[in-house]
This record gives sequence, structure tokens and C-alpha cells, in this order.
Amino acid sequence: PYVIASPCIDVMDKSCTEECPVDCIYEGERKLYINPKECIDCGACEPVCPVEAISQDRRVPADDHAFVEDNRSFFVAVLPGRDEPLGAPGGSNKVGPVGIDTPLVADR
Ligand code: F3S
Ligand code: F3S
Repeated sequence: PYVIASPCIDVMDKSCTEECPVDCIYEGERKLYINPKECIDCGACEPVCPVEAISQDRRVPADDHAFVEDNRSFFVAVLPGRDEPLGAPGGSNKVGPVGIDTPLVADR
């Protein structure tokens, strides 16, 4: 899947969400996250990000490698203040802004 790394934090341009054909890019408080279970690897989001935050998981820059697992954990871990993981809800428009970040992002 594709991954959103640190340059998105506090930028949240959201051009990526308009490109995604399966609506699998979800909004936290300070960053967006790609659902690895829903991303179909089309790559349409990558070129539109003005800060180049998006890349395929195996091409994420080494110093941002923690964001590969972190994008996954946004959906499989129980986020602070919630009772259950987000899982694969089938579309970010359906869910709306989640308004919470993973600890990795919240602590930056
Ligand atoms: Fe973030 Fe870039 Fe999308 S800044 S919201 S990954 S267009
Ligand atoms: Fe969507 Fe980007 Fe994946 S456009 S399907 S998140 S590669």
C-alpha cells in the first residue's frame, strides 16, 4: 500500500483525498492516514501532494520508516479515547474526520 509520512503533519493539504478512487485516506487531527487494507495501490494520490508526503511503503525514506507501521496502526490499534479499532470502515467520507492521531504523530 501507499503510506503518508511526516511531511503531512500540520499541513493536511488533502488534495490526496480528492484523487483516491476508493476513498481510503482518513483524517486524524494533524495528519491523514492511508488504510492499508483498503488501498488498491493505484498511486493517484502520490503526485498531487504538495509536500511529497506520500509514497509506496517500500519507498518511504529511511528516517520516516516508522510511518509505514504507523499508518497501519491508525486502523488496527485502539486510538486514544476510543473503544475499538477503526478497522476497514469502507470509506473516509462515511466516517468523517476521526480527529485523533496515533501516539507517534501526536507526540511530534
Ligand atoms: Fe497530507 Fe499531502 Fe494529503 S499534505 S493530506 S498527504 S495531499
Ligand atoms: Fe488511494 Fe493512493 Fe491507495 S489514491 S488507492 S490511497 S495509492
